[in-house]
Amino acid sequence: MGRGPCRVGRGQRRAYDEGMKAVVFDRFGDPAEVLQVRDVPVPQPAAGQVRVRMLASPVNPSDLMVVRGLYGRLPNLPATPGFEGVGVVEAAGPGLLGWLRKGKRVAVLNAHGGTWQEQVLVPARQVVPIAVGVSDQQAAMFFVNPATALVMIRHVLRVPRGAWLLQTAAGSALGRMVIRLSKLDGFRTINVVRRREQGEELLRLGADAVICTADEAIDERVRALTDGKGVPCALDAVGGATGSAVVSALAPGGRLLVYGTLAGEPLTIPPRALMVADAHVEGFWLSNWARRQGVLPMLRLFRQINALLADGQFATEVGATFTLDEIQQAARAAETPGRTGKVLLRFA
Ligand SMILES: NC(=O)c1ccc[n+]([C@@H]2O[C@H](COP(=O)([O-])OP(=O)(O)OC[C@H]3O[C@@H](n4cnc5c(N)ncnc54)[C@H](OP(=O)(O)O)[C@@H]3O)[C@@H](O)[C@H]2O)c1
Repeated sequence: MGRGPCRVGRGQRRAYDEGMKAVVFDRFGDPAEVLQVRDVPVPQPAAGQVRVRMLASPVNPSDLMVVRGLYGRLPNLPATPGFEGVGVVEAAGPGLLGWLRKGKRVAVLNAHGGTWQEQVLVPARQVVPIAVGVSDQQAAMFFVNPATALVMIRHVLRVPRGAWLLQTAAGSALGRMVIRLSKLDGFRTINVVRRREQGEELLRLGADAVICTADEAIDERVRALTDGKGVPCALDAVGGATGSAVVSALAPGGRLLVYGTLAGEPLTIPPRALMVADAHVEGFWLSNWARRQGVLPMLRLFRQINALLADGQFATEVGATFTLDEIQQAARAAETPGRTGKVLLRFA
């Protein structure tokens, strides 16, 4: 796996074509301070591995949480961030699958991080050929958000047609995918945002209702929208006061899936809200879910994502692109509140 950059010995010199650029951090901290670009050797694929020349990779919240040392699983340092991206398979170690992937444009799924370098090694089974018609930018964001949205909605919560689903951070790339899925699958969404102007965009996208935490109480508004019943299904990526308020908006037997920690604050749950409503609060982490799946369910998931990307249903707006050399500006842009669209890294 591409677990991080290769170390380069002091005073060691290499020919240009044996070297490449990699984003590296030696200590956990503010990404705009600790991320650097280094010249490192091009890695050689072992049996079962492919080497992918990267074209683009997004700067997702999870990538920056790793750099801050706040993620669920942390790499040994020095390390290279980046859980996903798109590239072309340039070399393969011994093995049929890698040989079949050679020359193909693929999405790279790298649960251990490491896509923010010009070339990355991954097991051949962790690259997915991309449907013709999906742009490089969209292909770069193939897995993390699309898979999480699909799996939470269709496999974990199994949101029934006609049911209400309440979600926080609804203006995120992932929140917008949930809204598009609601139109395909026939459920209704109540969408929590922190800026009123974002609400207008989400209503145009197909949101059934929007709650802005700047001037509205989640629980009250949800009760008004659902005839006092509350919602059977909810998703929270924020935590803190926002996520805690979602628990009180659950209907009897309702389920809240916690999948993000954007506020960096704990949930405070009144025990009575859980007890009286017989409510359930559960965690969801894509890498845990994916580890439990066999080959066929994963192939089915990849096919679904390819189809949703190809017909534009899962398109993510790109706000800005940066080169590897601009990594610190990219990190700053990605963490700016109210930014429009994803920040992408593009490779030479
Ligand atoms: N558990 C998993 O397996 C899994 C997988 C994928 C993603 N995720 C999580 O899903 C979430 C969304 O990811 P994404 O890539 O779609 O994000 P994104 O497109 O980068 O958008 C982030 C959104 O979160 C909002 N936000 C940030 N901090 C907030 C806060 N303190 N309070 C309220 N809203 C806040 C932002 O609002 P503004 O526009 O107002 O700035 C923005 O709309 C992240 O937490 C990510 O870690 C989890």
